[in-house]
Amino acid sequence: MSRETEGIDWTTIAEQLLGHWKRSGITHLPIARHPLPDEIAQWPVADRNSADATGSSKGPSTLQPAPTKQASPPPKPSSPPVPSSPENPLPTKPIAPLPPMEGPITLTPWVNTSLDDNGRAVALQGLHEEVKACRKCADIVCRRMQTVFGIGPLRPKLVMMGEAPGADEDRAGEPFVGAAGQLLDKILVASGLARNQVYIMNTLKCRPPGNRTPVDAEIENCRPFFESQLEILQPEYIICWGSIAARAVLRRNDSVGRLRGRFHAYKNAKVLVTYHPSYLLRTPEAKHQTWDDMKMLMRELGITPPTR
Ligand code: URA
Repeated sequence: MSRETEGIDWTTIAEQLLGHWKRSGITHLPIARHPLPDEIAQWPVADRNSADATGSSKGPSTLQPAPTKQASPPPKPSSPPVPSSPENPLPTKPIAPLPPMEGPITLTPWVNTSLDDNGRAVALQGLHEEVKACRKCADIVCRRMQTVFGIGPLRPKLVMMGEAPGADEDRAGEPFVGAAGQLLDKILVASGLARNQVYIMNTLKCRPPGNRTPVDAEIENCRPFFESQLEILQPEYIICWGSIAARAVLRRNDSVGRLRGRFHAYKNAKVLVTYHPSYLLRTPEAKHQTWDDMKMLMRELGITPPTR
């Protein structure tokens, strides 16, 4: 059955359409065809490649011809900021690259280098009283038995920083006295260090309920305390045991695996990050990495690592 026999006069319809287009100012219709080589040469490179690879007749994504070298705007000194979106949140501060595995890091002097032993003792005592009086973390303060400030010499070469007190520490008022503390003591002895030679403290001064991981707001509430404590003690070295201490001191969210094996800087102290003793109790296969980190520190301290 032909179209004419269906009663449709295609010629008349076409003429009517052409007349309508002419009255509307349309003089010719675009025809889908493969672009000519000299047209492709005008396209931006990305579009040119897609036409070459696919033989697509789509044409360039922009109607502008590719700008020639002379027409392109002068290069800007820095790239414009990329707008943030919920799908692509940007960090508020640029993240500094990790320091190299070997080589110098940038240390900055402590603020008050004139404190003698008595000045340090008085400053620590005052800070301790402030910690005891702190009620900032509502979820924690109603459940803690006591605050756990820190313990050690007034002029420690090395400060060890943990995460937060557990149940044993909450009872005793001293950091690292439970199972993790016992492993810590063994690591210290193996490294040629005695517990009373180092200052031991935590990021959080109170036990989070059920030993849960501290949240960022709690770390920030405690920041003035641990930063003042470090400023008074002015150690040459800090060991951050686990990612919470590393995040608090270095302000980085990287895993321990990425941060360990090198020194970082906190003010005038070299910072070593390694696995938390509680993690090592659960994951003994990570112990050899912590042992490598401790040997790196021992070399710095002039202690000969024992041969095993
Ligand atoms: N874990 C810590 O991080 N600190 C302690 O004091 C005890 C366990």
